[in-house]
Amino acid sequence: MDVINVDYDGMIPNNVGLNQDIRVRKALEKWHPGYLDWWQDMGPEGFQQSLVYLRTAVSVDPKGWAKFDYVRMPEYKWGILLAPQVEDRKVPFGTHRGEKAWQEVPGEHRAMLRRLIVIQGDTEPASVEQQRYLGKTAPSLYDMRNLFQVNVEEGRHLWAMVYLLQKYFGADGRDEAEALLQRRSGDPDTPRMLGAFNEKTPDWLSFFMFTYFTDRDGKMQLEALAQSGFDPLSRTCRFMLTEEAHHMFVGETGVTRIIERTCEAMKQAGIEDPYDTERVRKLGVIDLPTIQKKANLHFSLSLDLFGNEISTNAANAFHAGLKGRFREERINDDHKLEGGTYPVLRLVDGKIEKQDVPALSGLNMRLRDDYVTDCNIGFGRWNKVIEKYGIPFQFRLSHVAFHRHIGEFSTVKADVDGNLLSESEWRRRRDEFLPSDSDRDFIESLMQPQREPGKFAGWIAPPKVGIDNKPGDFEYVKIQ
Ligand SMILES: [Fe+2]
Ligand SMILES: [Fe+2]
Repeated sequence: MDVINVDYDGMIPNNVGLNQDIRVRKALEKWHPGYLDWWQDMGPEGFQQSLVYLRTAVSVDPKGWAKFDYVRMPEYKWGILLAPQVEDRKVPFGTHRGEKAWQEVPGEHRAMLRRLIVIQGDTEPASVEQQRYLGKTAPSLYDMRNLFQVNVEEGRHLWAMVYLLQKYFGADGRDEAEALLQRRSGDPDTPRMLGAFNEKTPDWLSFFMFTYFTDRDGKMQLEALAQSGFDPLSRTCRFMLTEEAHHMFVGETGVTRIIERTCEAMKQAGIEDPYDTERVRKLGVIDLPTIQKKANLHFSLSLDLFGNEISTNAANAFHAGLKGRFREERINDDHKLEGGTYPVLRLVDGKIEKQDVPALSGLNMRLRDDYVTDCNIGFGRWNKVIEKYGIPFQFRLSHVAFHRHIGEFSTVKADVDGNLLSESEWRRRRDEFLPSDSDRDFIESLMQPQREPGKFAGWIAPPKVGIDNKPGDFEYVKIQ
């Protein structure tokens, strides 16, 4: 088996020796038409015949793993690609630490492992469903292409998880693979499994915030699963992280370009007060306070994805060697966490307080803290843009108690600084913190498509460089 080069001859490109693995190949070939039906029904609406300048993974070599070409999305080569096997790899944490990494599912942990794979798998098609109408209002062909790139790769991530289910979980795996095509984002009867993946992504600011915050949750989850003692899961996630980096790039640079354009327009018009929203909006750009509110919304929804602060599921998954911590190998401790504590923000007698809890129970919190640190990096960059224009405004992350639906703070209301509010105060002040109906209407009014190569909608600046070093007026999508 050649782990670097991908077999493109069969129907399903792969580096897992699918040709010799007849049972799994047949199972995947059976699943394939249902996947394509799902893609046609729930994938990017109105652009299935268009030629999109996409990258396709052709290798798992970190240097030069992708090739770029025009593709019709339904003909995209969704492959199964695992990062190369690390020789003599050991289970890196938990009670089995130091044992040989598992190449087969450890029987005692089978149900837990299946659950972790299904939850990860469910998020992948969900985001495609959430973003399916955005192509129609793309601010440029460049952005449209980036959206579709993210979409096809989320499709491939679904394939990645379905491969694990089909290969290692027999009849249960087959049923789960089917169910992944049946659930629908936002459907009241058959919703996706996690809250943030049932929300709408109604406009492009939401899309960029989603790829900034929610894809970054994806990154953290994949990092934790890439540590897994179950080696095929580890290898799958390691390769997915290569693609995921681009999704967060799309989010971070998208928001940067919106901020850049707003600041530039304010400067030209001589507006110094960032809160003079009426005048700023008349320029056809999104005012900075509204961008902050969108960030508050998406950040809070993404925090919910980390689950309860105190979690026995997380403790069990770590103990079993299935899901580790962010950059486990760089942490200097026993990697078993049988002793030790971790500080967790909790609600104690109506106050937010830090409490030390057993380190194993606080693992969700730990991953979430690492996530918050990662989120802050982009905020620093966004603030630099504003500074450059000398506008007195700073973006910041809202408090973790703000607008929560899961965990310690789901029972209370708090402002963006973490001050607790009564229900009536919350209702009165809600629109200070989160996008209001009129904010949404305003943003929607800006969402006019721009389809001329090299042109951009007036509310977003062009990118600094093109994809694959293409010139500014490159036709990233040939619409047909
Ligand atoms: Fe993904
Ligand atoms: Fe992603």
